[in-house]
Amino acid sequence: MRVLGIETSCDETAAAIVERDDQGHGRILSNVVLSQIADHAPYGGVVPEIAARAHVEVLDRLIGQALQEAHITLDDVDAVAATAGPGLVGGLIVGLMTGKAIAMAAQKPFYAINHLEGHALTPRLTDRIDFPYLLLLVSGGHTQMVLVKGLGDYERLGTTIDDALGEAFDKTAKLLGLPYPGGPEVEKAAVLGDPDRFTLPRPLKGEERLDFSFSGLKTAVRQLATTLEPLSQTDINDICAAFQTAVADTLDDRVSRSLRRFRQSFPDVEEPALVVAGGVAANKVLRDGLQELCSENGFRFVAPPLALCTDNAAMIAWAGAERASDQAPADSLDIAPRSRWPLDMQSTPLIGAGRRGAKA
Ligand code: KG4
Ligand code: ZN
Repeated sequence: MRVLGIETSCDETAAAIVERDDQGHGRILSNVVLSQIADHAPYGGVVPEIAARAHVEVLDRLIGQALQEAHITLDDVDAVAATAGPGLVGGLIVGLMTGKAIAMAAQKPFYAINHLEGHALTPRLTDRIDFPYLLLLVSGGHTQMVLVKGLGDYERLGTTIDDALGEAFDKTAKLLGLPYPGGPEVEKAAVLGDPDRFTLPRPLKGEERLDFSFSGLKTAVRQLATTLEPLSQTDINDICAAFQTAVADTLDDRVSRSLRRFRQSFPDVEEPALVVAGGVAANKVLRDGLQELCSENGFRFVAPPLALCTDNAAMIAWAGAERASDQAPADSLDIAPRSRWPLDMQSTPLIGAGRRGAKA
C-alpha cells in the first residue's frame, strides 16, 4: 500500500509518499516540507491569507518533488490522502482540492484525513507501537492528552481550557521582546537564567480533571515583566527560566494523572507508552521531564524524530495507509474542509480551547 499524503492545514506545505506492508510496517519514501515561518515572522504569528496563498504557490511543485524523491510516478501510488481539518480553511481548501483532483484524474481512492489523527498514528509508523497508548499533543494550536485505543477510536482525556502550550511560549516570548516562534527563544534564554529568582503559578496543579491551562501563567509573566520594566537581559533570562520551570512542573502533575488513568483503564497492557507530538516536544527540558516521569511510572516514552513530531505529510499519508489497509471505504470527493474537527467526537468543546483552530 503506497500513499501520497498532502498537508496544508497551517503554515507548512508538505507532500510525502509512505508505504505500509501487510504486517503494518511503514516506510517513508519521501517527505518534503516547506515551512512558511519566514513569511509570518514579521507579524508575530500565522496570517491565514498569507498561508493560503503560499500553499497555492508551492504545492504542485512539492508533490512533484515527493514523487521524484520516492522514484515513482502517480501510477505507482495506491491512494491519495489529504488533510481535511482541523486548521485554517484557506489552506485546507488548497490541499484538499489538490488531493481530490489528483485522485480523480489518476482514478485512485481518496482519504480525507483529520490532522490530529495524523499526529496520533505517527508512533505506529516510527516505532511500531501497538494500540492502546497515550498521546500528548503539544503544539502551537493544541494541547491535548488523547487515549489512542485503536484506528479511528480516540478518547480525549484532557485539553487546554485556554491557550495551547506553544501559544503560551510564543506569547511569553513576544511579551519579553523575543522573536517568533517563541518556544526555541524562551528555551535558549531559560538555559542562562535563574529558575529560582521568580515563582510563577502552576495552573490546575493538583486538580483531579486531566485538562491543562496556560493563560494564567502568561498573564503572570506579563505582570512580572511590567513591574520589572525596563527589562535587562538577566531579567528576561530569569523570567524564561521561571516560566519553563512552571510549565515543566505543571506538565508533570497533569500528565502523571493521565498515566494513572491509563493504568486503571488498561491494567493488562504490559508496556504502556506515552507518545509526544507537536513542536513543543522539541523542548529538551520538557522532554527530559516527561521521560523521567515515564520511567518512574513504568511507561515507555516515545518521541518520534522532530521532523515527524511537527507538521508533515508523511503522517497524513500514513493515516491514509492505515485506513486503506483496514479496508476503510474511501471518502467521497464531495467532502468539505473542516476548520474544527475534534478527534474524539464525544468530547465536549471547552470554551476558549483551540480558539485559533489553526495549528496542531
Ligand atoms: O507543531 P508545530 O511545529 O506547529 C504547529 O503548531 O502546528 O509547533 C509550533 C509550536 C510553536 O508555538 C513553537 O513556539 C513551539 O511549537 N516550539 C517550542 C519549541 N520549539 C517549537 N516550544 C518550546 N520549546 C521549544 N524548543
Ligand atoms: Zn500539527
